[in-house]
Amino acid sequence: MVAELTPDDLRGYNATIAGLRPIPVAVTTAHGGRANGLITLSAGSASIVPEAPRVVVSITTYNFSHDLIRDGGVFVLHALSNAPELIEASLTIMRALGGRSGRDGDKMAGLRTRVGVTGAPILLDALTFVEARVLRSLDNEENTFFVGDVVAAGRLNAGGKLDIGAAWAGLGDEWTDAYEHDHEAQIDDSRARRGLPTLHA
Ligand SMILES: Cc1cc2nc3c(=O)[nH]c(=O)nc-3n(C[C@H](O)[C@H](O)[C@H](O)COP(=O)(O)O)c2cc1C
Repeated sequence: MVAELTPDDLRGYNATIAGLRPIPVAVTTAHGGRANGLITLSAGSASIVPEAPRVVVSITTYNFSHDLIRDGGVFVLHALSNAPELIEASLTIMRALGGRSGRDGDKMAGLRTRVGVTGAPILLDALTFVEARVLRSLDNEENTFFVGDVVAAGRLNAGGKLDIGAAWAGLGDEWTDAYEHDHEAQIDDSRARRGLPTLHA
């Protein structure tokens, strides 16, 4: 059942939730000979035990990476660097992985990678990485929350974490407009999976 929310409710929701997770995280995975990746703003910690960390990420069901993570059971989270000499490499990763679907072609081909212990690719131009094996997953119709045990991690490059404000500024209006346009199909698919009316043709 969907709650009837007023415009005030929605303003309050946005004031509370918008910006809570400001760090874009590149997620890679591999299954059945196919490697892929996408950009997320939903990654985080899923354990308080310092020596046995767990991570969580929410992946939209519509996305190609969703099925690869579900079927392969592995994923790698990467923070991206804000160091001046690495910003372009960070934006290249965001454009390559966040702007189109792996269903339409190999997105990993142009990126420098090595294979991790999980078999998923590690992005060598990222700032840091965490490899995880899926422990449990929670299917929420429009997305799945994948919780994973961390099995390896490391620092790859210098710098601090690129935040989403700097990322949007670097990606530019043209890329961002195209992304938002393409995103409409994803939102409609999410609506349909929740039994809600779709908005676009
Ligand atoms: C800033 C940003 C944040 C995003 N956050 C998520 C997210 O948390 N979960 C998700 O599934 N997709 C997220 N996306 C969308 C995917 O990165 C995008 O749809 C991608 O093209 C999917 O690729 P795939 O079909 O190859 O998996 C985000 C994209 C951007 C640019």
